[in-house]
Amino acid sequence: MRKTALLIAAAALLGSVSAQAAEQAIHIDRQPWSFAGPFGTYDRAQLQRGYRVYKEVCSTCHSMKLVAFRNLAQPGGPGFTEAQAKTVAAEYKINDGPNDKGEMFERAGRVTDYFPSPDPNEQAARARFNGSLPPDLSVIAKARGVESGVLRGILNMFTQYQEGGPDYIYAYLTGYGKPPAGEELTPTQHWNSVFPGHKTQMPPPLTDGQVEYTDGTPATVSQYARDVSAFLMWAAEPHLEARKRIGFQVMIFLIVLAGLAYYTKKKVWADLH
Ligand code: HEC
Repeated sequence: MRKTALLIAAAALLGSVSAQAAEQAIHIDRQPWSFAGPFGTYDRAQLQRGYRVYKEVCSTCHSMKLVAFRNLAQPGGPGFTEAQAKTVAAEYKINDGPNDKGEMFERAGRVTDYFPSPDPNEQAARARFNGSLPPDLSVIAKARGVESGVLRGILNMFTQYQEGGPDYIYAYLTGYGKPPAGEELTPTQHWNSVFPGHKTQMPPPLTDGQVEYTDGTPATVSQYARDVSAFLMWAAEPHLEARKRIGFQVMIFLIVLAGLAYYTKKKVWADLH
């Protein structure tokens, strides 16, 4: 009886794994990230480069409404100084008002402002892209991920794999190409190897040499994609470093506590044996 039950369970598991494997035609490579693993931290220089890519390229179409300029200078982030964050903010025009005459006006950004959106509203954004909406990028690194089968999923718990979001964004930004024979694209569609359905309204945003890097890092599409993906991971999870640090401290504490509890128990019950 028990054997049959085990066999059925094993068959069900295998079945679901192979069914998932069949659905999983899209393969997304894992990238080496500095923030991976239980002790991972952000690479400050990379976040700063990623910010440049966001600002010079992505921000013409995508908003990032949940991130404020002051966040750029907060601990665990890209490591801008307060003064630099102020300069960054001042480079933006913010729509404010109404003033005493009841009119809206534009002013230079302040550190307490949030990143302004490229379009006044969702309808205006959709109108630019044939009905598709360029999503807000504040938490996109958490909103997207990589599908993994049952076994891989269990393994991920042990390896603490949480980089599916940036892996997907990197793959999306570098995944453009010619459609296979038999696939038709409308004039506004672009073929992408990892986008669900493969036909995306986002034109390939990056080209080699597009954004100037001052620290000698190669100015290539793959490097831009890597840097902006890391930046978006930070935007979505600004407290990742603190979370990992505290998590480790809690584990140490629990191990010590478990030891103490064990020896206390031994001592308390010693006379009864
Ligand atoms: C010319 C405008 C434009 C630029 C520039 C642009 N995007 Fe997009 N992006 C779009 C549009 C439009 C969509 C929606 C695509 C769709 O639904 O077909 C999109 C979708 C996305 C998505 C979501 C994909 C998904 O799985 O739904 C991500 C992530 C993204 N863009 C990241 C970026 C990054 C990072 C940059 C900068 C390197 C960038 N985009 C630059 C227009 C743009």
